[in-house]
Amino acid sequence: FSLGSTTFQSKVLERLYCWRFIVTLICSNACKALSGSITVPGDKSISHRALMIGTLAVGETVIEGLLEGEDVMATLQAMRQLGAEIVKGEDPKDQLWHIHGRGIGGLVEPDNILDLGNSGTAARLITGLISSHDITATIVGDASLNSRPMKRVLEPLKKIGAQFFTREGDKLPITIKGTNQALPSEITMEIASAQVKSSILFAGLNAAGHTVVIEPTPSRDHTEKMLSHFGAEIMTEKTTDGFRKITLVGQPELTGRKVIIPGDISSAAFIIVGALITPGSDVEIKNVGINPLRTGLLDCLKEMGADLKILKVRENAGEKIADIKIKYKRLKGITVPKSRAPSMIDEYPILSIAASVAEGVSVFNGVEELRVKESDRLTAMAEGLRACGIGTKMTEDSLTITGKGGSPDGGTLIKSQLDHRIAMSFLVMGLISKKSISVDDAQPIETSFPGFIHFMNQLGANMELS
Ligand code: S3P
Repeated sequence: FSLGSTTFQSKVLERLYCWRFIVTLICSNACKALSGSITVPGDKSISHRALMIGTLAVGETVIEGLLEGEDVMATLQAMRQLGAEIVKGEDPKDQLWHIHGRGIGGLVEPDNILDLGNSGTAARLITGLISSHDITATIVGDASLNSRPMKRVLEPLKKIGAQFFTREGDKLPITIKGTNQALPSEITMEIASAQVKSSILFAGLNAAGHTVVIEPTPSRDHTEKMLSHFGAEIMTEKTTDGFRKITLVGQPELTGRKVIIPGDISSAAFIIVGALITPGSDVEIKNVGINPLRTGLLDCLKEMGADLKILKVRENAGEKIADIKIKYKRLKGITVPKSRAPSMIDEYPILSIAASVAEGVSVFNGVEELRVKESDRLTAMAEGLRACGIGTKMTEDSLTITGKGGSPDGGTLIKSQLDHRIAMSFLVMGLISKKSISVDDAQPIETSFPGFIHFMNQLGANMELS
């Protein structure tokens, strides 16, 4: 077993060392107020899962509201390379995607590397999928993804029988040699991570018997909900020591389904905080996913005194959806407990902007996971906030922010470091900073929130590309 031809190897290396050369600077200037009613693009986590589970289902899956951001398109391309037939419907009005799945055990060996760009979710979940198929595949990513830890999924996946060939430190590029005789397993996770949980469950789909995952703190459960929607038998229970135990019955027959994807609360978060901190704002965001394991940010903002209303709560395929109404309100600092981290893990960068504008001190505890996101977000936030005139104190796993009780200074150029959420957070700060805030690279925003600048300007923001 080898990595293959020299051309193949040089492609992997070329991807490993490549940097983006097309960099677009964005500048966010102070604006009057945000107002209006909008919908945000589809949920990224649910979009990835719809493509992957649709690929493993028999028959046709139809997806409405798929996020067409770079991360999800990387998954879509990988699913095609693994044998799924995926096309976009011809009617420009309905924007539906159609998948003809392969069935569990039916993935084919890709004849080229799988390039997953910036997406940690794609890398971890697809590694799980491939692990229980008798195929070999190599996955690569951009400079950010290639520096992120993979050991957290490789260790449990080795237990089911997969083999991995990695770089020093278990980083991408990784070559996976899967097995068609995957063993059922019981894994107790050390960290709360939906990516690790989902990777193990995806591998367990093609293992005979039960795969059991035990989580210390509940993480987003989109995988469980969607597998059940497609016909898998998957049970969740609370253990006597307060952990969450998920049991999946292996080798189910998944049947193609219609999936309706709600707006992404992690994208809505930028608009929510933008409206809360910009005087005079009054915004409504329609059709947002409010899965209770994703709404930690809303709890924090309410504790900070936000004027936030959750309206018309409804449900589809087990996922809660609502409209959110936000009005400007002066905020006060809060302490965010470690236990809340899994339900708002992607929202700390934007919460740090709300905390900078709030009156008083905010403390984010137990947030060491932020160091291994698309960038080291703890450092990126602390340094960026300091450059904008905000007092911060960082430890290995916490961040303390002394709020200004009003507009931060701004007047800085923030490095996005291939991290979409760092870029968008500081652009939101620019809505009210005394001097404008620029971000050196707009491209990463396309991974999760295509059209971000357009959406913000439509509501009254003053952001420009240069
Ligand atoms: C995700 C899980 C989270 C989150 C990521 C999306 C998912 O990562 O940060 O943006 O879709 O499962 P972890 O599982 O590493 O916390």
